[in-house]
Amino acid sequence: MTESKPVILTCAQPTGQLTIGNFLGAVKNWATMLDDHDCYFGIVDMHAITVKYSPAELRENTLSCAAQYIACGLDPKRSNIFVQSHVTGHTELAWLLSCITPIGELQRMTQFKEKAAKLGFNVEEDNDLKFTHEGARAGASVNSGLLMYPVLMAADILLYNADLVPVGNDQRQHLELCRDLAQRFNHTYSDTFTIPKSFISKQGARVMALQNPERKMSKSDENQSSTLYILDDPSVLKKKIMSSVTDSGSKIVASKEKPGVSNLLQIYSSMSGRSVPDIESSLKGEGYGTLKKEVADSVISVLEPVQAKYKELIDDKSYLEGVLRSGAEAAQQRAYKVLFKVYRKAGFVERPR
Ligand code: TYM
Repeated sequence: MTESKPVILTCAQPTGQLTIGNFLGAVKNWATMLDDHDCYFGIVDMHAITVKYSPAELRENTLSCAAQYIACGLDPKRSNIFVQSHVTGHTELAWLLSCITPIGELQRMTQFKEKAAKLGFNVEEDNDLKFTHEGARAGASVNSGLLMYPVLMAADILLYNADLVPVGNDQRQHLELCRDLAQRFNHTYSDTFTIPKSFISKQGARVMALQNPERKMSKSDENQSSTLYILDDPSVLKKKIMSSVTDSGSKIVASKEKPGVSNLLQIYSSMSGRSVPDIESSLKGEGYGTLKKEVADSVISVLEPVQAKYKELIDDKSYLEGVLRSGAEAAQQRAYKVLFKVYRKAGFVERPR
């Protein structure tokens, strides 16, 4: 009898091109896990509609995300790549979980507070949503999908009874909520869910914005020179890196006082596989210009083959659709088993056949 492999479930939102934060903190690591795990890689289109979006762009970005996954090394022959809305069970399980989730726990989530703040709202310590001064903007409101976001994410994970969830550092709090919900469900209804473990790699787990290294690199940064996309043209990558913010002084060392230099060293190290102390010693006596040039070279040399592969894939729509079809079939098979078990435990009468 063959022993079953541990199950991995993880996802990204199809909200445009992946950043090198998504790449180094997530997708690049996933690609190293294919052989030792049973992998499910989701493209979470339902999460992507919690903020303002265009349906036509979402459609395009969903296929593009699949092509980017594959170009980054997620081999569809050794993993299941699927779109969240293709699999019945994600929103159904989210509903069940929402019934054991206090609203206060959701209002405390850092990402919720950050996204609400962007809309001009402030979540106070007592967890009441309050208008801030800017929040008086006409028509501003926080939709309940944004609040429910982490419950849907917990459902994504628990629906597959995943053992391991590899993510970047920004998802740590959501993962903790997911584990709490799994435990609460098991306690209320008897053992049902595997309690998933997060996997947050030491390197690249929090890539910072190039123009403000105190903040996470993100797709939605107002200053787009802060964000490196995996499909940026090499000349654009170089320009963004060369104009990144560094720190006072001239020594190339990673330290708390030097967030800009530390971020560049982290990116360089994650891209090249060299350790930070090794890079520091090879650049002893050099200036920030040399550091930036070497960082740019390492980023470009890793991303060029990814971009070439992406170009091939994105023109082959029927191949991509085939990948998503078989990914959804495999995902659905697993998801139904868990969903029906959950329904039974929750006391729902079995569907008449
Ligand atoms: P998303 O789409 O924002 O990001 C996808 C992955 O990239 C990681 N990441 C980063 N890592 C390092 N540095 C950064 N600057 C950086 N920015 C993003 C994220 O941690 C993530 O691993 N809520 C999730 C999507 C999701 C999910 C799930 C993830 C929905 N359901 C179930 C895991 C399991 C999100 O918005 O990821």
